[in-house]
Amino acid sequence: MSVQKLQKTVLGWYKNNKRDLPWRKTKDPYEILVSEVMLQQTQVSRVLEKYPEFLKAFPTLKALARAPDRELLSVWKGLGYWKRALNLKETARIIQQEHKGRFPKDPRELEKLPGVGPYTARAVACFAFLNPEAFIDTNIRRVYLHFFFKDKAEVSDKDILTIAQKVVWREDPREWHYALFDYGAVELKDKKVNRQSRHYAKQSRFEGSFRSFRTSIVKMLLEKEGVEKKVLRSFLDQQLHKQKAPWEADDIIESLVQDGLIAESLHSYLIQD
Ligand code: ADE
Repeated sequence: MSVQKLQKTVLGWYKNNKRDLPWRKTKDPYEILVSEVMLQQTQVSRVLEKYPEFLKAFPTLKALARAPDRELLSVWKGLGYWKRALNLKETARIIQQEHKGRFPKDPRELEKLPGVGPYTARAVACFAFLNPEAFIDTNIRRVYLHFFFKDKAEVSDKDILTIAQKVVWREDPREWHYALFDYGAVELKDKKVNRQSRHYAKQSRFEGSFRSFRTSIVKMLLEKEGVEKKVLRSFLDQQLHKQKAPWEADDIIESLVQDGLIAESLHSYLIQD
């Protein structure tokens, strides 16, 4: 397929099928970053519920930079992967303090921020600053696998990006990437092309996972000021035992302390602040 043909196919389809999503109505880099971080590992329908609530609680970079962790995690509840929330706040603090509150425009600068990888850096640079560099997520990858890698296996993102960069619709890189998301997510939804990718990872089951035990601890601590170590350990041991999980209570607790999600005092655990 040629460059022009792909652009025509995708943009033609998009004209009649575009999704109306709130983060596509803003050019504010802060609001865009929030949406991209939420969308990293959470489905659109769930982000749609949380996004307005989050921006209401933390309307600006400045507000987020000084948000207490307890409040932040309490708003983040339901999105999972808590570490993203703490990274987002740390990013806000760095931009506030080290960049005078102004977002870097260059993806290479954005990538230095915590929780901002090559994808998120280019997505933010594109949607806020019309940067023309290509980027791929699961849905965009699907489009390229479908049109350019039929019957190939173990396709690398590097090979996809080489093509993707040539195909970027220079007139409007923002609309172009929205169109790619939607084409991949809606039109190619049932195509199993992502199996051809070297990088695609199917999301594993949440129930009974290491992450599920972390989540139940954070939720418990958000409801209380602090929980006695003994009490927390025995609650967790029971849960682990009931689900025949292969971990010890201390494995779970230690990982949360390591990630800075919880802190310990002499006798209790509490949400870090
Ligand atoms: N629009 C902007 N960013 C998006 C994303 N990551 N997924 C779906 N739609 C989007």
